[in-house]
Amino acid sequence: MAEIIAIASQKGGVGKTTTSVNLGASFATLGYKTLLVDVDPQGSVATSFGYGRYDIRAGVLEIFTKGTPAKDCIHPTEIELFHFIPSNVWSDEIDKRSLMGAAMETKLKEALDSVRDLYDFIIIDCPPSLGNLTYNALIAADSLIVPIQCEYYALKALGRFLKMTRTLKNELNPRLRYRGFLLTMVDMRNNLAKRVINKVRYTLQGLVFETMIPRNIRLAEVPYYGKPAILIDKNSKGAQSYLNLAREILAQDNSVGDKEDDDNQEASDKSESVAA
Ligand SMILES: Nc1ncnc2c1ncn2[C@@H]1O[C@H](COP(=O)(O)OP(=O)(O)O)[C@@H](O)[C@H]1O
Ligand SMILES: [Mg+2]
Repeated sequence: MAEIIAIASQKGGVGKTTTSVNLGASFATLGYKTLLVDVDPQGSVATSFGYGRYDIRAGVLEIFTKGTPAKDCIHPTEIELFHFIPSNVWSDEIDKRSLMGAAMETKLKEALDSVRDLYDFIIIDCPPSLGNLTYNALIAADSLIVPIQCEYYALKALGRFLKMTRTLKNELNPRLRYRGFLLTMVDMRNNLAKRVINKVRYTLQGLVFETMIPRNIRLAEVPYYGKPAILIDKNSKGAQSYLNLAREILAQDNSVGDKEDDDNQEASDKSESVAA
């Protein structure tokens, strides 16, 4: 049965979609059946697989507004074991509003639970906000990956996000645990980057993935080519770093069971200091 992983952060442009698409492609390449679900009304996931508006049957919009079964919204990608459900919101403001107006509830959870048996991993690409779509995603999820762009203000506003996930965990989804915080767009030639990395690792001790994602042109080219970086250039640093992230997550599995409660408590405690 699939583990449902939400890729979330209240900030835009930190690498959520890039992580969702390329981590999913890596799991599938390593032999794990993976479904990527786009709950962001900006709908960048479909573009990342070369799909246009008229190639889509139905998506998250139809799950929320018409109760369409999730299995009828699944689309294939060029990678055999990798499927996706698009948001299916294009430019129509009405569609956008109806998706944004999704109630804070279990609709997404019920939809994804109905296809859980078909996959090893279900990844949810969240919008850059703490709105109801992100709540739906975090209620459906078993675990959470938080991308942090490697920049000077990286930790700013993280406190609010950590507090929100702690409240949500306590009240609505006690299963939710951190898979980890992921440093993205890292440029190791830059001294500031090294200071930021040290600060993030110190603040979120033990909860930051060893794997870091470098700034890499192949990753930026994903929407242009309409395919994950691993299909553009398997040996690129970008594709390889996401393969390493997938391997790191798969290797966590043995130890995570015992650690999870400690981890969540730790992250909650840290949220106080990060918020300050
Ligand atoms: N590691 C990276 N190297 C180069 N460009 C990247 C990298 N990660 C993301 N980008 C680019 O940065 C922009 C924001 O990334 P995106 O994944 O869309 O963020 P989010 O989903 O959090 O808004 C996109 O144009 C994307 O192509
Ligand atoms: Mg995005």
